[in-house]
Amino acid sequence: MASSHEAAFQKCISPDCGAEFDCMEVLVKCPKCGELLDIEYDWKRVGAPGRMSDFSRRWATRDNRLDFSGVWRFREMLNFCQDDCKVSVGEGQTILQQNDDLAAELGVASGCLYLQYEGLNPSGSFKDNGMTAAFSHARLVGATASACASTGNTSASMALYAHACGLKCTVFIGAGRIAFGKLSQSMDYGGHTIQIQGDFDDCMKQVQDVCRELNIYLVNSLNPFRLEGQKTIMYRIIEQLGWRVPDWVIVPGGNLGNSSAFGKAFGELKALGLIDRVPRLAVVNAEGARTLADLVNGHGLRWNGGRVDQGVIDAYYADLTGRNFSPHTCASAIEISRPVNLKKCLRALDICDGIVLAVSDEEIMDAKAMVGRYGLGCEPASAATIAGLRRLLGDGTIDTTQTVACVLTGHQLKDPNVTVDYHKDNRGPYSNPPVEALNDLARIIELMQ
Ligand code: F0G
Repeated sequence: MASSHEAAFQKCISPDCGAEFDCMEVLVKCPKCGELLDIEYDWKRVGAPGRMSDFSRRWATRDNRLDFSGVWRFREMLNFCQDDCKVSVGEGQTILQQNDDLAAELGVASGCLYLQYEGLNPSGSFKDNGMTAAFSHARLVGATASACASTGNTSASMALYAHACGLKCTVFIGAGRIAFGKLSQSMDYGGHTIQIQGDFDDCMKQVQDVCRELNIYLVNSLNPFRLEGQKTIMYRIIEQLGWRVPDWVIVPGGNLGNSSAFGKAFGELKALGLIDRVPRLAVVNAEGARTLADLVNGHGLRWNGGRVDQGVIDAYYADLTGRNFSPHTCASAIEISRPVNLKKCLRALDICDGIVLAVSDEEIMDAKAMVGRYGLGCEPASAATIAGLRRLLGDGTIDTTQTVACVLTGHQLKDPNVTVDYHKDNRGPYSNPPVEALNDLARIIELMQ
């Protein structure tokens, strides 16, 4: 019997093209038509897993490095390379926290709100789920150098994995556009950092050209192997719910890799009969970077069986260019106006009967403070999920007794500046400013009364 990595292949997402390529080819777009690529598996040849709960058995064999990984524990669902290529730094040991205090604050019934803490990954964000997969593929094809454009978390994660498997790595960031915690990580891990006078979208364009010119392995979420790793966030959510599917999954939307991967994960599980229904998906933009919300809600853009109306997208981007638009939000991680995975995200919305909304920076910061007070904290982009949930409860889209899983994508300490500013300047209802005290016992005790 063939092992499943021999049954994996790359396939163009366009139904009018559908070209297929071997996994040994390094591609970020279909060479025939320029559309995005998926990784697919010939399940008929290799046999799909019988039931998801079998994966739980691997908790008992955690001394095996692949069973220890919260990504590779599910390796049959993303088996595109042999085991000795699989790179792991112990990613995916994240928790799904049932948070009844935050639920109560939001008016959600007890036992219904869950926070998926992806900030608990080794580099402090969900990116490690994808990077472990991308670097495994990089190893498979013998790549020696990697690069990415980043709002900070991709670069931190890339630098960590590149270091772990001996690849050179170059990070492209928009000058002044990334949080200090993230910048400090890529420097610390030894990444070569290039600050471009521009925003993330400018960096994304430059890095694609650089990788093509210099034959460097690109690890942005255009890379279809990366998204295979990010599917496992959904496996872990349903695993921790006792293999139940929540009613809703809420995720922030930036470059739209996560939402794309989540839709693919649920689409595959449903097609294989491993789950009986898919959750609804809510993707939350920041108002200052609201391309997806505008295109879906304002212009009616849909997946449309894979025949997405490119004219609508082109006209929207032409308008951004005409206005010299650059996105701005306190949630710097999702400060992106030309999301590379747009079409895959539209597919995910189609699979999961999804919706899109955009929330203000003020809503994001209040929500972030709530996650800090009642949960384990998160960075601003991650809190867009809670801000989104608040809105969707308010307008009745989500019922207070539905089960909701919010993906908290990045760690609280990634961006301490915005946290300190919010609290110090008494900016919102959850602000908790420090109190100045003289170096005097009596005065200190007085202040504490
Ligand atoms: N949350 C955090 C903390 C992120 O760092 C990102 C993306 C997102 C959400 C958005 O995820 O792109 O899958 O929609 N950060 C990228 C980076 C762009 O470079 O670190 P997405």
